[in-house]
Amino acid sequence: MVTAFVNGQYLPLAEARVSPMDRGFLFGDGAYEVIPVYSRRPFRVDEHVARLASTLAAMRLNNPHTAQAWKAIIGEIVARNPWEDQSVYLQVTRGADSKRNHAFPGPEVQPTVFLMSEPLVTPGAEQLARGVAAVSAADIRWLRCDLKTVSMLANCLLRQHAIDNGCAETVLFRDSFLTEGAASSIFVCKDGVLLVPPKSHLMLPGITYDVVLELARSRDMRHEVREVLEAEVRSADELWMTSSTKEVLPITTLDGRPVGSGEPGPMGRQMYAWYQDFKLTVMRNG
Ligand code: PDD
Repeated sequence: MVTAFVNGQYLPLAEARVSPMDRGFLFGDGAYEVIPVYSRRPFRVDEHVARLASTLAAMRLNNPHTAQAWKAIIGEIVARNPWEDQSVYLQVTRGADSKRNHAFPGPEVQPTVFLMSEPLVTPGAEQLARGVAAVSAADIRWLRCDLKTVSMLANCLLRQHAIDNGCAETVLFRDSFLTEGAASSIFVCKDGVLLVPPKSHLMLPGITYDVVLELARSRDMRHEVREVLEAEVRSADELWMTSSTKEVLPITTLDGRPVGSGEPGPMGRQMYAWYQDFKLTVMRNG
């Protein structure tokens, strides 16, 4: 049985209910986070809770909980679910008003808070050994991609575009520059240098993106945070997708053409190893 949390109550997911008048349902008016949990320890939880707070602030939605309270709820969801490694999903919406109205409801309407957990499924050995295929597409999303909101139709269409083409991810370009993936950050390796676009309103500030850059910095992998041209992506030696659930996963074909040699490359293998090592250290030391 999966245990969920809805507005202060822990209950079986199958019994969890929210109103059809909820603004998350009517308008996609909500924020979310996906937090990986290894051996029952949430990874980078402070950063996830802080990113949630900044999304809520930008949405002008009062954060219903302190960071401390969020961490307690996340900890409780982890404890009440059966898996050692979990993917905790957390969502806050602007709540359910009595009428449908684009403008915000008054203070009497409380935000809706929902959490659930799923088993964390990270890429398996075979996927890591082969890498995954990706397609590219124009980034058709809005201009606040830095906010982790549940209004995700464009991301869903773009990820489905990958699936329709037998691929794992869609790499997005806006005006001939790389932004990110439909549900991941994208890193490029060229001539021994790791390249990634700087954080901006055009991409999500990924928690894994930060970890990868911290590792590159602390272990002296050459890297540049700068705008990356579509042409550079298309002539890359390596491409990786990163996210809380995919960790560091090599992309070995783009639009049916091999990336570099067409096999996972040495920089990606190195970063994957550092990432696993870092995870273990954090898990051991809390
Ligand atoms: N998505 N960019 C987008 C558009 C994303 O949806 C995600 C993650 C990322 C990577 O962010 P992070 O490293 O913080 O997980 C980048 C999550 C996993 C999801 O929607 O399921």
